[in-house]
Amino acid sequence: MEIRTIGVVGAGQMGAGIAQVSIMSGFKVVLNDVSDAALAKGRAVIEKGLEILVRKEKIQPADREKMLSCLVTTTNLSDFFICDFVVEAATERQDLKNTLFRKLDETVPAGKILATNTSSIAITGIAAVTRRPENVIGMHFMNPVPLMKLIEVIRGLQTSQETFDATMELSRRLGKEPVPANDYPGFVANRILMPMINEAAYALMEGRPHGGGGEGGGHRRHHAHGRESPDGPARACRPYRS
Ligand SMILES: NC(=O)c1ccc[n+]([C@@H]2O[C@H](COP(=O)([O-])OP(=O)(O)OC[C@H]3O[C@@H](n4cnc5c(N)ncnc54)[C@H](O)[C@@H]3O)[C@@H](O)[C@H]2O)c1
Repeated sequence: MEIRTIGVVGAGQMGAGIAQVSIMSGFKVVLNDVSDAALAKGRAVIEKGLEILVRKEKIQPADREKMLSCLVTTTNLSDFFICDFVVEAATERQDLKNTLFRKLDETVPAGKILATNTSSIAITGIAAVTRRPENVIGMHFMNPVPLMKLIEVIRGLQTSQETFDATMELSRRLGKEPVPANDYPGFVANRILMPMINEAAYALMEGRPHGGGGEGGGHRRHHAHGRESPDGPARACRPYRS
C-alpha cells in the first residue's frame, strides 16, 4: 500500500503535531478543520515548531520551506479524495467522530485506511459506522507529537492484518515506536496514567509528598529523579484540562 498523502482531521494540539511530523517525514499533508481561523492557528503551531528546529540547527531553513510547501489546509472534507491514509484528530466526542467517519467513508477512496487518534472511544464502534471496518484502526499518538516516540496501534474487531501492518509501517516512517494495544478503555497508556494522576491527587490532598515543592513540585521531583520522567502527574494531566 503506497502512502504519499496523509489527511489529518483537526488542526488542534494533536492534529497540528501529526501534520508536522508527517511533512517532516516527506509526506504531503491535507489538514482539515472547521474554520479558517482554526487552520491558521494549526499552521502557526507547525511553523513555530519547525522554526525551533531551524534555530536548534536540526533542520535547515530550506528544509523548513520544503516541508511547509507539502502542507495544504482545507475546511472542506471532500478534498480528502486525494488522501492515501487519514488520521482523525478532532475533538473527543463519539457523535462527532461517527459523523466524521461516515463522511470520510464517502470521500476517501475505498481501501484506504481511516485511523483515529481517539484517547478513549472504542475503535470497533467508530469502524462500525463505515462500510470499511477492516480499514479502520486506532493510531494513538502521544502529546506533544513531535517529541513523543510512542504510538499505540489499536485494532478494532474487524481491522484487517493488512491495515494493521500498514499502520505499523507508517508509524515507523514517521520516526515513531508503534506498540500494539487492545481496544479496551484507555488502551494501555491512559489506563495506567489516569489511576496514577488520581492517586497523585489523593497524595496531594493528604499533604504528601511534603517538601515545599508547591503545586505538584514534590511529585515532579520524585518523577524526575526517581523515574526518569520529566513530568510529574500534575503536569502530565495538563493536556486534558480544557
Ligand atoms: N491532547 C492530548 O494530550 C491527546 C493525546 C492523545 C490523543 N488525544 C486525542 O486527539 C484528539 C484531538 O485532541 P486535541 O487535544 O488535539 O484537541 P484540540 O481541542 O486541541 O483540537 C481538536 C480540533 O478538532 C477540531 N474539530 C472539531 N470538530 C471538527 C470537525 N467536525 N471537523 C474537523 N475538525 C474539527 C477543532 O476545531 C479543534 O481544532 C482527541 O480525540 C483526543 O482524545 C489527545
